[in-house]
Amino acid sequence: MQIIETVNAMREWTIAHSDRPRAAVYTMGALHDGHLELVRQAKHYVSAHTGEHPYVVASIFVNPTQFNNPEDLERYPRTIEHDLEMLSSIGVDAVFVPSVEQMYPDGVANVIAVEPGPLGDVLEGEGRPGHFRGVLTVVNKLFNITTPNYAMFGEKDFQQLTLIARMASELNMSIDVVGVPTVRDDDGLAMSSRNRRLDESGRAIASRIPAALMMVKNCVAEGIGVEESLNRAKHYLSESPEIAIHYLVVTGNELQSAPQHGAARVLVATEINGIRLIDNMAIEIKGA
Ligand code: PAJ
Repeated sequence: MQIIETVNAMREWTIAHSDRPRAAVYTMGALHDGHLELVRQAKHYVSAHTGEHPYVVASIFVNPTQFNNPEDLERYPRTIEHDLEMLSSIGVDAVFVPSVEQMYPDGVANVIAVEPGPLGDVLEGEGRPGHFRGVLTVVNKLFNITTPNYAMFGEKDFQQLTLIARMASELNMSIDVVGVPTVRDDDGLAMSSRNRRLDESGRAIASRIPAALMMVKNCVAEGIGVEESLNRAKHYLSESPEIAIHYLVVTGNELQSAPQHGAARVLVATEINGIRLIDNMAIEIKGA
């Protein structure tokens, strides 16, 4: 696996690896099996779609423009040696690990940004102004630097995936943005680098999050109304006083308002002992 630190070297690598399709997996490090699943699916998806084995390029970059809280940025876990071992063992061909200066040579304050539009201001965007502007800006730069044919993003961050897919379409990029289903621990909790900050009791309580989503999923599948289903799940979550609910909502698959029936999404954001955890699931509304 080649470790690449500069934009120029990354460009040279992509030119030298143009005989097969390229797939990209972008991360902020502190890797876990959810990230590795993106690599596995990159190989699987591209092979199935083209009959060719792709070159897989990963990146590790803790992007300052998507953090609105400097303490959050500072305290973001950094486990680079372990991350590189994991990427190498899963068969990544190149990993891009730029410095902040490489990515933002004129400084983060002077960046030319991608505006997410109104969808960037709701749900995760509401409490984190500028977050999705930072995400789209860095992903756009990573797209330009690594020029993939395919780019894999986790459904775990459903709003991020939706906005990146919209950016690619709206800005006429010839990149196939592919969503990968969420990888979960045995009790259903979505894997996240934040989970390692939970203590034992917080970790046990956190399993209520996927259980609450399952409750909504099962209720709406039985024909119980969306409002009533959400109320039951909120009640279940509130049985644990340590859980603060930031939002629990049902939307359409493009994050528009919920349909009367058919495929939809339930999304949740909570805070347990100061640690913010998000999750979501595909649901099928039976309707009246
Ligand atoms: P990060 O949180 O490191 O996540 C990198 C990628 O891994 C994202 O596409 C995310 O959705 C995916 N992922 C995380 N946990 C997952 C899980 N349990 N199952 C499946 N996929 C999972 O998301 C970011 O970094 C950044 O915003 C980034 C896109 C790299 C831009 O800076």
